[in-house]
Amino acid sequence: MNAREIRPGIEWLGAIDWERRLFDELIPLPDGTSYNAYLLRGSEKTALIDTADPAKREELLEQLDAVESLDILIVQHVEQDHSGLVPDVLARFPDAAIYASPKAVPMIADHLGIPEERITAVKDGETLSLGNWTLEFLHAPWVHWPETILTYLHEEKVLFTCDLFGSHLATNDLFAVDRPRVHEAAKRYYAEIMMPFANLIQGHLAKLDPYEIEMICPSHGPIYDDPTFIVDAYRHWVLDPPKNLVVLPYTSMHDSTRRMVDHLVGALTERDVHVERFHLSRTDLGEYATQLVDAATVIFATPTVLVGPHPSIVSVAYLTAALRPKLRYAGVIGSFGWAGQAAERTQTLCASLKAEWFDPVFAKGAPKAETFDALDALADEIAARHRELS
Ligand code: FEO
Repeated sequence: MNAREIRPGIEWLGAIDWERRLFDELIPLPDGTSYNAYLLRGSEKTALIDTADPAKREELLEQLDAVESLDILIVQHVEQDHSGLVPDVLARFPDAAIYASPKAVPMIADHLGIPEERITAVKDGETLSLGNWTLEFLHAPWVHWPETILTYLHEEKVLFTCDLFGSHLATNDLFAVDRPRVHEAAKRYYAEIMMPFANLIQGHLAKLDPYEIEMICPSHGPIYDDPTFIVDAYRHWVLDPPKNLVVLPYTSMHDSTRRMVDHLVGALTERDVHVERFHLSRTDLGEYATQLVDAATVIFATPTVLVGPHPSIVSVAYLTAALRPKLRYAGVIGSFGWAGQAAERTQTLCASLKAEWFDPVFAKGAPKAETFDALDALADEIAARHRELS
């Protein structure tokens, strides 16, 4: 795909990755993704912000055939889907000056083999002139690496944000015109990538308050020509209290746990508690993470395997804690054959979760009348706690 003009002098470069279905060998990409770079043709200097994934080397280099000279290469983030082609860009433009945050300098050396003395470290708030245009660099650590910067183009009121506000969405819409689709993709992206750093993002949103922003250009997904759309969405995801929602990841080997899940979902439904259940053999973990953005409660439902929880519950419990959602309450239900510690071990996996734990409900063998009574009591407790949320 050729470069695309966003505004006079500002071009989208990079690649749309229509076919990629997994990121970091972990994150499902049901809608592909894109790697956006931006070319700024100032009156005196030309700058490139970020590059693209090495898998898209030929596309970016072909786009750069139309660039006579490059004075400045800004590395906002060192993860290789944006920085991986920095060495190729420098091979094409050996005199280009590299700008990055102080934390990024050694990381660029480590990851890309570029000598530190080749890179200029920029302070928070430092400016750089392209002639008619002024760039300001804003340090924004932990979105989602420690070294990230944002770049604000003052005269055009355009903010370049790398991963922040991005979405894994392959589309040839240059701008976010299909808002429901972009909102869904951006929320999933927030859940998977940004949610562990929600407290810091709250600070970054406050830092951006004084800036007049007409356009946000992220490094994944479409550009926002109405920035309030995505900034307001981030405010909700970061700041809103959790909702009346239970997420219920489960697996079942011989149907005991599945029957307990069915009963608990029915009991919660009768008590007007919304439930999202996720059978882990079939679940897209991105969908699970997305529901964690708003959920007040997680209930893990697991059979007992080798004394502890089923390995699929081990995995999702670890992930849940690592994503640091706003969950207020948590619980474990399930079954065991003769003995076990599935509940205790699940709680240990989630030790960093700041949630209050309900008493576990476990059945020895098949669930019985007293098991269902205990699940009804759990549903009562969840419903009562959720009523206190509003
Ligand atoms: Fe899109 Fe953190 O890289």
